[in-house]
Amino acid sequence: MPTRLAPIEERLHMTLPEARIEATQLPGVKDLQLALINADFSTAPLAPSTMRAVIANPAYWAFCWGSGLATAIWLQAEPQLVADKVIADIGCGSGIVAIAAARAGAREVFACDIDDNARLATKINAELNGCSVNVCSDIDELPHHLDQVWMADVLYDRSNLPLIQQIKNRAETVIISDSRVSDLEDEDFEVVHRAEALTFPNLGEFDEFRRVQFFRYQR
Ligand SMILES: C[S@@+](CC[C@H](N)C(=O)[O-])C[C@H]1O[C@@H](n2cnc3c(N)ncnc32)[C@H](O)[C@@H]1O
Repeated sequence: MPTRLAPIEERLHMTLPEARIEATQLPGVKDLQLALINADFSTAPLAPSTMRAVIANPAYWAFCWGSGLATAIWLQAEPQLVADKVIADIGCGSGIVAIAAARAGAREVFACDIDDNARLATKINAELNGCSVNVCSDIDELPHHLDQVWMADVLYDRSNLPLIQQIKNRAETVIISDSRVSDLEDEDFEVVHRAEALTFPNLGEFDEFRRVQFFRYQR
């Protein structure tokens, strides 16, 4: 494993000592690699103590979630969506959306995550792809005015719903992509894009989670 990936493998080992971090090319995305959990990681039931550790500190950042992957594919096909814009990726995890936006020509990119490990993974993944991403832990640390905010697969936790109003107050455009939420129940948003993608490496998710919808709000 390259030395620069060692710090995030150490973090992964705090909950999953058998797993490894590998730099992996993403399916369907050209020339973009992420340091993620090894593709052949064991999906066997975890020992109760390991399970408790994983629940307490889930390594979401060690996977590229379906909505993040679908966003990267869309931005590669249509870079003009973000070109020359100041954007933020909320709930960045591995940093996939931030990195895809930077690679598509966004002028300045911010990535925000409450998880310290995700922020470290995003920094390392940005370096791996030769791009510049500003990382922060709270949306209050973001610039007051952003052209766009992207948020991919963050609404699995319904307690994050209030984030929607907070980000609407800060950006001209908000694009929420989600594989778990079929109706955002906010009339200010319209579905502007649909795609199919699964979390990578494969988590063995149900097929219904393959459908990703992109909801857009424009001020
Ligand atoms: C399922 S992962 C998705 C990661 C990435 N967007 C992707 O598509 O691969 C959700 C991420 O959102 C982060 N998160 C959850 N609630 C958050 C909040 N209120 N503010 C910022 N990040 C949050 C989690 O720590 C996690 O990294």
